Amino acid sequence: MRATFSADGEVLVVTGGASGIGAAAARAYAEAGGTPVVLDVAPSDELAAAGIEQHGVDVADRDAVFAAFAAIAERHGRVDGLIAGAAVQPRTPVAEMDPAEWRHTLAVNLDGVVWAVQAALPHLRAQASGSIVVFASGLAHMGRAEASAYAASKGALIAFAKSLAAEVIEDRVRVNVLFPGVIDTPQFQAANPGDERAHWLRTTGIGEPEDVAGPLLFLLSEAATMTGSTLSRDRAFAADAGEDA
Ligand SMILES: NC(=O)c1ccc[n+]([C@@H]2O[C@H](COP(=O)([O-])OP(=O)(O)OC[C@H]3O[C@@H](n4cnc5c(N)ncnc54)[C@H](O)[C@@H]3O)[C@@H](O)[C@H]2O)c1
Repeated sequence: MRATFSADGEVLVVTGGASGIGAAAARAYAEAGGTPVVLDVAPSDELAAAGIEQHGVDVADRDAVFAAFAAIAERHGRVDGLIAGAAVQPRTPVAEMDPAEWRHTLAVNLDGVVWAVQAALPHLRAQASGSIVVFASGLAHMGRAEASAYAASKGALIAFAKSLAAEVIEDRVRVNVLFPGVIDTPQFQAANPGDERAHWLRTTGIGEPEDVAGPLLFLLSEAATMTGSTLSRDRAFAADAGEDA
């Protein structure tokens, strides 16, 4: 059975979509016939070359997020899905954490999701359909030294998404949390220098951003009837690659 989804005529907003998992999702959505629109502080030349619409937006800036959604709604007349993926992952011990770094991490990883959801909801509600996906991380459950702000933001997102799902279920809007697994992206590489990469290779294996596109397209599609759920795609890539993980 081929794993294909159609996004014909539909519009998806991907925050943090200029890189890594979000960029792979935007490309896959376009291949499925839909129109992905990326909101990112650092728009990508490759996505621009591929004809994917991008808006230079800091998701921590609520007004900028709302302005971008207004422009998207005006241009496309609809919003069918939101992947809220913009995130930063500093590595700093708690005792040395600058308050500005703590605030920035929460402002991007948590507040930025809330602002995108608030901006998307009127459109999804008006259509009485739609799907929101946020990214958690295994670190929300396991914790990790020097990753407290990131792990805290991801733990909070799980609780946020489950609460939101209950609020919008009557509107036929679904909200789910994806644990993407360990994926080789710029964020992963920056947060796992040197030997740390070898640790993940040994323990979980490391996937590619494209490996997450299928689960994301599934969660966006009507085939994913679930809401308020968490989906974890750990290790499937290791089996694909034949790794002993
Ligand atoms: N890569 C992994 O192993 C992994 C594991 C668990 C969860 N995740 C989550 O998956 C999502 C995608 O991560 P990725 O690994 O593809 O990272 P990535 O670094 O490749 O992409 C993150 C994107 O977010 C953008 N961004 C950062 N700050 C922003 C801001 N203030 N406003 C707008 N955009 C901003 C960056 O420019 C970048 O394009 C994140 O939420 C991440 O926490 C990743």
